[in-house]
Amino acid sequence: MNAVPMHPRLVSLEGGEGAGKTTVLAALQAELAARGDEVLVTREPGGTPLAEMIRDLLLSPGHEPPAAETELLLMFAARAQHVREVINPALARGAWVLCDRFTDSSFAYQGGGRGLDPALIETLERGVVGLRPGLTLLLDLDVAQGRARTRGRDPQPDRIERERDEFFERVRAAFLARAAGDPVRFRVIDASRAAGTVAADAVARLREWRGGA
Ligand code: TMP
Repeated sequence: MNAVPMHPRLVSLEGGEGAGKTTVLAALQAELAARGDEVLVTREPGGTPLAEMIRDLLLSPGHEPPAAETELLLMFAARAQHVREVINPALARGAWVLCDRFTDSSFAYQGGGRGLDPALIETLERGVVGLRPGLTLLLDLDVAQGRARTRGRDPQPDRIERERDEFFERVRAAFLARAAGDPVRFRVIDASRAAGTVAADAVARLREWRGGA
């Protein structure tokens, strides 16, 4: 089977709970914008009005809990909309797209965490997404440390944040396995360090990857 094509201007940021994505995203956005290029910062699940509604269905603890398969399909429903309405048009006009989570989160959370078959996820990736980031920065953090950070921050954890530590251990292992299997696309960043250090490291990896482009 042919590989899903990578787009060099699509950059994704991945990681478990409490890994510090927000600070890193701001630093990456500033780095990309410094050369005057258009930069679109977006997130998953979400990024369009409909996809944000699907996000609410997925993450609000008030709704009926979805079956694992339902969760996977809703993630991909949101992503299909996001790719067609926002990501592809932005890439087509030459913008950088910086995405807070992308398909690797489905492999990690629904594949690793929920135990769904990665072959099914690959089929969805190929059939409804059709592209991969050129660069994926994975913020890696010990689960207990990440959980301690979010506990201090979120008075109302969302439905997925309420999962047990074992779930997040499987998510982390799945992310690391994907990174090990695709060293061309992934950079693993140690997110246990101070936020500023992590952000500077992420910017350095982006700069190095972007080269003279
Ligand atoms: P976050 O944007 O605050 O990280 O929240 C998004 C949550 O959704 C997070 O718990 C990870 C989860 N998620 C999945 O389970 N699968 C996916 O494909 C995506 C994009 C996110």
